[in-house]
Amino acid sequence: MVNLDKYSSIFVANWKLNGNSSFLKDYYEKLKLNSNNCTIICPPSIYLKSLKTNNENLFCGAQDISSFKEGAYTGELSASMLKDNNVDFCLVGHSERRQHFSETNSSVNSKIANLIEQNIIPVICVGETLEQKDNNLTEEILSTQIKNGIPNSANYKNAIIAYEPVWAIGTGLTPSLDEINKVHDLIKNFDQKFINFKVLYGGSVKSENSKEITELSRVDGCLIGGASLKVEEFNKIIS
Ligand code: PGA
Repeated sequence: MVNLDKYSSIFVANWKLNGNSSFLKDYYEKLKLNSNNCTIICPPSIYLKSLKTNNENLFCGAQDISSFKEGAYTGELSASMLKDNNVDFCLVGHSERRQHFSETNSSVNSKIANLIEQNIIPVICVGETLEQKDNNLTEEILSTQIKNGIPNSANYKNAIIAYEPVWAIGTGLTPSLDEINKVHDLIKNFDQKFINFKVLYGGSVKSENSKEITELSRVDGCLIGGASLKVEEFNKIIS
């Protein structure tokens, strides 16, 4: 399993449903890594193998995984199949999966447990909608997502949490720096076991705001969607 403590920050590129072979080749040629940081690229699963690298600071991650281990589940990919293909990380519980694919805290919980069993590090996404934020429900929502969605087997060495306010994803809006730091502090203090967890921030991260966000005391890196699709922009974020 990847030793997360080796790195000062963790940056995850979530390509979502974007990219093709030539995009990937060009991206890889132009990517400029920073050896202090752990950089994880999450392409659509079919490209995971093409992205595999021997660079010790660059890893590939899947964007989702089945909550089942094997069997008659057409279209699914299992954690053991990811392991078999040397994938080290996997996003779980992204808000787009919760919203468009009916992902629940219970399925998130099973997915994380399966990944941990295979020594793959889940990047566990949590976050509130704008309506929930406006109704002061952020703490309650995060607490439920974390308590019900994260199995007991997860710890700060084998799992990462990403705080992604749903209203900040792809909108150009972000919480204030103070708000981000406070929510990360809240997450780390939900339970003694979360204190040492790496907590990433995601939602409209770009080169103009990544430095100030990453420098916050309770932020351990960023999860980047749209801005990760432009390699020059992503290079600036991870530099
Ligand atoms: P964004 O997406 O950077 O485009 O806001 C982040 C994410 O969905 O992980």
